[in-house]
Amino acid sequence: MCYAIPGEVIGLSAKNTLVNYFGETKKIINEFTNIKVGDFVYAQGGYLINKIPKKEAKEILKFWEKNFQVLRKLDQNFALIGLVKPSERLIPILSKIEKGGKINSIEALKILRTKKQADLEVIFKTANKIRYEKHGNAACVHGIIEFSNHCRNNCKYCGIRSDAEIERYRLTPQEIIDLAKTANSKYGFKALVLQSGEDLWYDEAKLLTVVKALRKAKILTFLSIGNRPLALYQKLYQAGARGILMRFETANSCLFAKYKPGVNFFDRVKLIKKLKRLGYLIATGYLAGLPGESNQDLAANLELTRSLKSTMYSFGPLIPTQGTPFERFSAPPKELLLKLIALTRFFDPDANILVTTALETLNKEAKKEALLAGANSLMINVTPMALRQKYNIYQNRAQNDLSIKENIAATIKLLQSIGRAPTDLSTNK
Ligand code: 5AD
Repeated sequence: MCYAIPGEVIGLSAKNTLVNYFGETKKIINEFTNIKVGDFVYAQGGYLINKIPKKEAKEILKFWEKNFQVLRKLDQNFALIGLVKPSERLIPILSKIEKGGKINSIEALKILRTKKQADLEVIFKTANKIRYEKHGNAACVHGIIEFSNHCRNNCKYCGIRSDAEIERYRLTPQEIIDLAKTANSKYGFKALVLQSGEDLWYDEAKLLTVVKALRKAKILTFLSIGNRPLALYQKLYQAGARGILMRFETANSCLFAKYKPGVNFFDRVKLIKKLKRLGYLIATGYLAGLPGESNQDLAANLELTRSLKSTMYSFGPLIPTQGTPFERFSAPPKELLLKLIALTRFFDPDANILVTTALETLNKEAKKEALLAGANSLMINVTPMALRQKYNIYQNRAQNDLSIKENIAATIKLLQSIGRAPTDLSTNK
C-alpha cells in the first residue's frame, strides 16, 4: 500500500509539471531535469518526489483504477447528498460561501456561536462540499518522527516543557535517518515531518546530515524544530528540506506572552514569514481552547494562518496535561474544533487541513467527523512505540498504542469508508 498514487506526466513547463490522476489534473513543482511527458511520478505536498518505472506504476494503478472510481463516487455522495436548510440567520452566510464568496470575521463569529445540531450539520456538510470541489477525493497522509523530547522552552501547556519531570530521550542522526528510510521503503511514506522539542544538541552539522540523507532517499522533509537562526534554515533548505511545521500557537500576543515565556510572538510570526520567503512549504496553526481565549481570538487565528499563506493548516485542541500549570483546565469541546475546520475551509477553500492527533485524542470519532467537515489530511506516527510514550506533549495520545502497520491499516480503512484516496494534494489545475 502506498501513500501517494502514481500519476502520469501530461505537461511540462519551466517549473511546473501537470500530472494526471485518473482524469484529474494536478499542477506540481518539479525540481528534476530528467522528467518527460509520459513518465510516471509520485508527488506529495505539491512537489514531484520521484519517477517510478512505468511497469511498476501500471501495476499500482491497476489496483487503484477500479477502486478509485468507486471511492470517488462515495466521496461525492458524502459531499453532495443530504444538504438540508439551516436556520434563517445562517442562510445568507452559507449561500454566499457556496457561491465562492469570502467569509468575514463577523460571519465567522456567527458560525462559532452556532450550537444547534442541525445547523452544525449543514455547516460541516457545506465545508465538505467545498473540500470535494477543490480537492476531489485526494487525501494526504504524512508520517511524523518525534526524534527528541528535550526542550529549552517552558510553555505552560506542554508536557515536555523544560520544567517537566519526565524521562528525556534523543535519537542520533543515524537513528533518525534509519527510521525515515524504513518509513519510506517499508511503509511507503513519501513525506515525513521530523519533530522535536527545541533541542540545540542537534547542531547545524547533525541537522544537515539528516536532511541530506533524506533528500538522497527522495523523502519530502518537513522540519518541526522551532526557533533557529534563519541562516541555518537557509542551509537546511539548500540541503533539501522543503517544509516547516511551526505553529504560532495563538494570534493573541498577550496570551502568547503569558503561555510561552521567553518567546516573542512577533519574532515567531516574522520567522514563519521569512521561512515562507526562503521557499519552504509552511504548515502552521494554533492551539484552540487556551484559557482566556475568546471567539475573536479564534477568528484572528484563522485570519493569521491564512495570511501566513500556509500550505497546511495544523491546529488542534489544548489537552490539559499533568505536570503542567494547565493540568486542571478542561479541553475544548469537539464541536469547536469541527467548527474551526469548517471555517478554515470557508476562509481558504484551497487549504490543506490536517486532522491532528490532539483532536483524535479528544474524541475517537472526531477523525472521521473532521474529514467530513472540511479536513483532507492525516498524519501517522512512525516514531518507535517505546519513545512515543515519552513524547508526551500531552497524555494518552491517540495512536500511541498502534504499531505503524496497524495504524496504516486503520487509516486506509477509514479513508476508504468515506471515499478518499491518497493522491497528491497539490491544487487541481
Ligand atoms: N495539548 C495539545 N497540543 C499541545 N501542544 C503542546 N502541548 C499541547 C497540549 N497540552 C502542541 C503545540 C505545539 C505542537 C508540537 O504540540 O501547539 O506547537
